[in-house]
Amino acid sequence: MSPAPIALYPDLRERPVLVVGGGAAAERQVQALLAAGALPRLGGAPALTPVLQAWADAGRIQWLRGRFDGAWLDAVWYLVAASDDPAVNRQALQAAAAQRVLAQDATGAADTAAATQATDDTGDGIGASAAAATAQAIRPGTVTLVGAGPGDPGLLTLNALRALRNADVVLHDRLVSAAILELLPGTAERIEVGKSASGHSVRQEQIHALMLEHARRGRRVVRLKGGDPFVFGRGGEELEYLRTHGVPYAVVPGITAALACAAYAGIPLTHREHAQSLRLVTAHCKESFDTLDWAALAQERQTLAVYMGVAGLDTVRERLLRAGRAADTPFALVENGSRPQQRVVVGTLADLPDTARAHQVRSPALLILGEVAALATGLHWFGAAPLSALPSPFPKPAVPTLAHAA
Ligand SMILES: C[S@@+](CC[C@H](N)C(=O)[O-])C[C@H]1O[C@@H](n2cnc3c(N)ncnc32)[C@H](O)[C@@H]1O
Repeated sequence: MSPAPIALYPDLRERPVLVVGGGAAAERQVQALLAAGALPRLGGAPALTPVLQAWADAGRIQWLRGRFDGAWLDAVWYLVAASDDPAVNRQALQAAAAQRVLAQDATGAADTAAATQATDDTGDGIGASAAAATAQAIRPGTVTLVGAGPGDPGLLTLNALRALRNADVVLHDRLVSAAILELLPGTAERIEVGKSASGHSVRQEQIHALMLEHARRGRRVVRLKGGDPFVFGRGGEELEYLRTHGVPYAVVPGITAALACAAYAGIPLTHREHAQSLRLVTAHCKESFDTLDWAALAQERQTLAVYMGVAGLDTVRERLLRAGRAADTPFALVENGSRPQQRVVVGTLADLPDTARAHQVRSPALLILGEVAALATGLHWFGAAPLSALPSPFPKPAVPTLAHAA
């Protein structure tokens, strides 16, 4: 007897796929998925075939025990209904449709002909280009919001790197460093959405439209943002838009500027002798100045990390002093944090704008304000020593710092 048809899947490499069933049909589907590099999960069956059981025991697949549960679909990209029980398959397919998870009935190919091609175990009978075309036609477009970190490519997460390598198109911010863009595959289309050649920013609505357009063409879209997508990155707005338009999405966090700039400048943000809280603040326009709680920001024993603040330093100084923050509170301005051209300028709140002007501090720069900022004068290890009028609070170092490995 010839084997049952094996489905051709969309590109599911390293993506979780739910196979419903535990019998011979499910086994064939899992085998094909493993061969395609997917991460199969199996559920909705009271027992497994010996082969499936062995794969589960070896950790090659995950077995979700118990009756089919729609919540399993939350974490998968694709569903294959391969149960011996038609009612279970129906339930799974309906749940997948409701949650907009691409799905396929591997036992009744009639209504999924577009997604299924007959082939045998050896793959004979269908050319590679035809297979690719079929997979392209049914592949669901996706958008992954990826945090690129502050610039040093070594600060990308493995998930970020994986998403970049699999991307068909990358919509990236201006702040994403050239060193990170070099990691993109040559096949990936790059679109800068931070600023156009004429110097004007691409409007947020245009970015939304671009994400949708490319995802609807079945492409793997990476929306690449500096730092972390959810920290002053408009990642929330983009997810809301994608959700409204039914585009599957995922988020890969990145190292936000506050953490990276502090680490690369030698500033422990919550050193217990100096600060017990940290606030991430943005202060770049009148609206953001007026809505901030300056009395709270002026409290002692806390560190402020101020994003996008370079143009507003006069106002930051004036409001903090007026709210009672001491004039001799140390600050550090970290320009191009974690990048080869990083500069750190240290001083006191009283002189903040003048010091920044004297050293011509430019965006991207992060302001770190609080007692911990002074520690940069002694704990710095990366790039040039801080430009500082403050004395180091430490004696001469007993051990030399290491050169940065990158
Ligand atoms: C629109 S916000 C984006 C923040 C980003 N999502 C993050 O999590 O870091 C841009 C601001 O982040 C800060 N920033 C980003 N990268 C930086 C870097 N490498 N060095 C210093 N500041 C940086 C600057 O204050 C800049 O004006």
